[in-house]
Amino acid sequence: MALRNIRKQGDPLLRQKTVPVSRFNSQLHQLLDDMIETMFKAEGIGLAAPQIGISKRIIVIRDEDKVMEIINPEIIESEGEIIDVEGCLSFPGLYGEVPRPARVEVKGLDRTGRDIKISGQGLISRVLQHEIDHLHGILFIDKVLRFLAPEEIKKLGEKA
Ligand code: NI
Repeated sequence: MALRNIRKQGDPLLRQKTVPVSRFNSQLHQLLDDMIETMFKAEGIGLAAPQIGISKRIIVIRDEDKVMEIINPEIIESEGEIIDVEGCLSFPGLYGEVPRPARVEVKGLDRTGRDIKISGQGLISRVLQHEIDHLHGILFIDKVLRFLAPEEIKKLGEKA
């Protein structure tokens, strides 16, 4: 496994549309392992492949110590709306309030190419949507209603 560099604000790759994954080989598995290691090292709760310079539809998400890998993810259902604070590993130190559906259902593939479905609410729902947005070149700053002031940021913990 290897740590990858996280692309930061202003990197044009963060705005590129990604292509679907079609080969579920050892190269993909290596990439997924690297993404997970990079996410943990950066203390993030989610990471999308474009954030490490790979323009493919791959996301990883952390739910405490459990890790989810979703290839070619797609939101197939969403419900409600919640406004909550978000950050992004590509925007260190920046946080804002973002409205998003409260619950989503996502379909995709696992690392072997098998169909998976994930239902998320609360933080998981938010992280799923944030990471899937990355795959379309959409960043949380595009959806922010209000950025947090430095004293508000002090109270926060992890970032997506
Ligand atoms: Ni992000």
